[in-house]
Amino acid sequence: MNHSEKIKRNEFLKNLGIKGAALLAVYCTGASLSSCQNESAITPDATGELLSIDLTSSAASPLKTVGGYIRQNNVVLARVSTTEYVAVTQTCSHEGRKEIMFTNNQFYCTAHGAVFNKAGVGQNSNGRAGIKVFKVSISGNMLTVTN
Ligand code: FES
Repeated sequence: MNHSEKIKRNEFLKNLGIKGAALLAVYCTGASLSSCQNESAITPDATGELLSIDLTSSAASPLKTVGGYIRQNNVVLARVSTTEYVAVTQTCSHEGRKEIMFTNNQFYCTAHGAVFNKAGVGQNSNGRAGIKVFKVSISGNMLTVTN
């Protein structure tokens, strides 16, 4: 895609009300842009907030169970214990595919099998570059993920 096409696409996406990380997520889908290879592709909004979710909402229902997770705004948010949540980027450090999930108490990329522990440290060859772990804070029922 050349520069003017990118601008046109940007305008189009803006008209749809898509911005920030979500916009980048659209750009990165199926793209081979080098900027999509890692978490630097994520641009937080002015507050640095990547995701904010009400833990009592239906969207957050997978988080009621230890081992459950959700994916939103290029963030994978997992409930790793009764008291702890961990958030990482959905974009794999191996080849930039947005296929990170949480399973067996670790983060896993379904593309080529990269595995990362809860601290973001790679556990096998494809995961050797590690994965970005975000900050998680909870206030009342609101959970917020920041860069
Ligand atoms: S892109 Fe995730 S393992 Fe290859």
